[in-house]
Amino acid sequence: MREEENDYLFKIVIIGDSAVGKSNLLNRFTRNEFTEKTKATIGVDFGTKSIEIEGKVITAQCWDTAGQERFRAVTSGYYRGALGAMIVYDITSKISFKNVTRWLNELREMAEPDILVMMVGNKSDLESSREVSTREAQSFAEANKISFLETSALNSTNVNLSFEKLLTDIY
Ligand code: GTP
Ligand code: MG
Repeated sequence: MREEENDYLFKIVIIGDSAVGKSNLLNRFTRNEFTEKTKATIGVDFGTKSIEIEGKVITAQCWDTAGQERFRAVTSGYYRGALGAMIVYDITSKISFKNVTRWLNELREMAEPDILVMMVGNKSDLESSREVSTREAQSFAEANKISFLETSALNSTNVNLSFEKLLTDIY
């Protein structure tokens, strides 16, 4: 991979309720790290990673914001220029899945109309505490014409794939 060269820079925003694992997904993707007990994000964090698609170097510039209302610093600038959005819920939290609709609405209000969306059901390692079935999430994704994968930032399942699929869709 030609690390120093950079054919495309794609901005991606990661949104979803607090504690669904947005920051850990970002850290798993960009640094291959996971933290057992993380602090809630305050304001906005960033992470970048380059991948190769069809011989081109694509750099993903990922913006990670707070799920908690009081820590959010989201203005139109957060969404400006974003080509992709990852909406994350937690498969062990029905409410976080219900709230995907609210996050989709925020995207419709604040992001570019043609932004590509990947819905991610995170914490797939916690199967015994599952509250959202894969089938239910799949039909929601189909009805809303968005992509969908279940991931685990803890054991890495589908994390790279979900970012790569979003980046490939943009490309
Ligand atoms: P905010 O910054 O408040 O919006 O939260 P967040 O969505 O960034 O969540 P964060 O990444 O901080 O993760 C919240 C908690 O869930 C942490 O204690 C993580 O260790 C845990 N967590 C994140 N991803 C996973 C996962 O895939 N599996 C399990 N079991 N725990 C996870
Ligand atoms: Mg966070």
